[in-house]
Amino acid sequence: MIKPTVSILISGRGSNMEALASACDSKVIPANVGVVISNIADAPGLDRAAGFGIPTAVVPHAGRSKAAFEADLQAILKHYKTDIICLAGFMRILSADFVNLWEGRILNIHPSLLPDFAGTNVYARTLAAGVRESGCTVHRVTAEVDSGDILVQSRVPVRAGDTESTLAERILQAEHVAYPQALAMLVSQLAAKPHPERKVS
Ligand code: GRF
Repeated sequence: MIKPTVSILISGRGSNMEALASACDSKVIPANVGVVISNIADAPGLDRAAGFGIPTAVVPHAGRSKAAFEADLQAILKHYKTDIICLAGFMRILSADFVNLWEGRILNIHPSLLPDFAGTNVYARTLAAGVRESGCTVHRVTAEVDSGDILVQSRVPVRAGDTESTLAERILQAEHVAYPQALAMLVSQLAAKPHPERKVS
């Protein structure tokens, strides 16, 4: 069976990228990591990726159109024969055109139990709402932000006295388990079915 190639888009720390790369590296997920791309030149996740021997690239978004930014992303993703894209703390919204090119093949992780607390400022809003439970969601990316079908959700308690950082840390531990689980599910769904664009590249 052909192993699909997963490329990972980041903007920062890259701990979810590392969880995905580890799961591929240790063969828990039958996939190869193609490239890690950051829109932020000094994202710490780039060094973490290099530590795994994964090729890295920087595609800046500032000062140019979304179309130009996404054309560069697409060229690099194709160069590395990408089948699946994982957004892992990637802080840009992708256009409908880009998402449609990769329909069903882009995953994102969000630190709440979607559809609750979609969007930004998640931990503060979660705490302000006084809910007793939160967690993370891995979902397929569609043109509408933080929607798309859900592959995995993992729940954690919200404890009395939690701050944004204690809650974020608890959710992050759940993310590192949930994201590899969701990627494994997508890989098995797409087994031996590489992205159609690969035939023409
Ligand atoms: C995670 O909490 C993820 O849910 C959110 O951004 C954070 C990224 O962390 N989308 P990391 O860069 O993977 O460490």
